Amino acid sequence: MMDSDRDPNYGVVPSPDTEAYPEADLASLRADAEQILARYPQKRSALLPLLHLVQSVDGYVSPRGIDLCADLLGLTGAEVSGVATFYTQFKRHPNGTYTVGVCTNTLCAIMGGDEIWDSVSKHLDIGHDETTADGLVTLERIECNAACDYAPVVMANWEFFDNQTPESTNQLVDDLRAGATVTPTRGPSKVCSFKEVSRVLAGFHDGLADEGVGAGPASLEGLKVAQARSALAAEDTGSRRRSSDSVLFDAPKGNGKAKQ
Ligand code: FES
Repeated sequence: MMDSDRDPNYGVVPSPDTEAYPEADLASLRADAEQILARYPQKRSALLPLLHLVQSVDGYVSPRGIDLCADLLGLTGAEVSGVATFYTQFKRHPNGTYTVGVCTNTLCAIMGGDEIWDSVSKHLDIGHDETTADGLVTLERIECNAACDYAPVVMANWEFFDNQTPESTNQLVDDLRAGATVTPTRGPSKVCSFKEVSRVLAGFHDGLADEGVGAGPASLEGLKVAQARSALAAEDTGSRRRSSDSVLFDAPKGNGKAKQ
């Protein structure tokens, strides 16, 4: 962790107390929660999207958000907290507008992820789970995001930035902090805010899901190989069948044995 004690740097301070939701916010949250609850036969199954909904309003899983989820689902605060602390997508402290995650899992690490991490951490002067003083970027080391074919990979609010370098990642965080429209390598045309993305994860679509490239060429290479091999396999099966038919047809009549 970098030596940084400037605010916000939320990662090292306890989750702050929160006041009760203003009446209008609470009414809106409860109306959205009703829609989420209606999707599940057992209401406690709605906890994960409800936690995302809380993040879409508070920017993290706040104490008042935990109370709301517990009240809606008939759970204890400890039970809700137990779930919220299990998943890394749920933040227990105020989060930056953009979560920038550098994959330092095995493949990305050896392809340059460690250098990217060192560079961007130094560039922003923050460490893991810490937030820049302007409250805009929270930096994380992340595990494999199943994008190894584009290693090293950086995520901004879970949008992909493929084949990154220390320079491109520093530029990415500079652009995000400058308020520029930043376009991921794949997916939608812009990186949305943490709160906006949290609302999508709660199940309220923003219409961007089908924008842009889904699977890029590197991801499709395996598919092409599989398709080519399956065509070859089909041909091979066909030729074996023909060969087997020919053995049958060529078998001498009467002795039941195939011709050698
Ligand atoms: S190791 Fe980084 S995406 Fe898989």
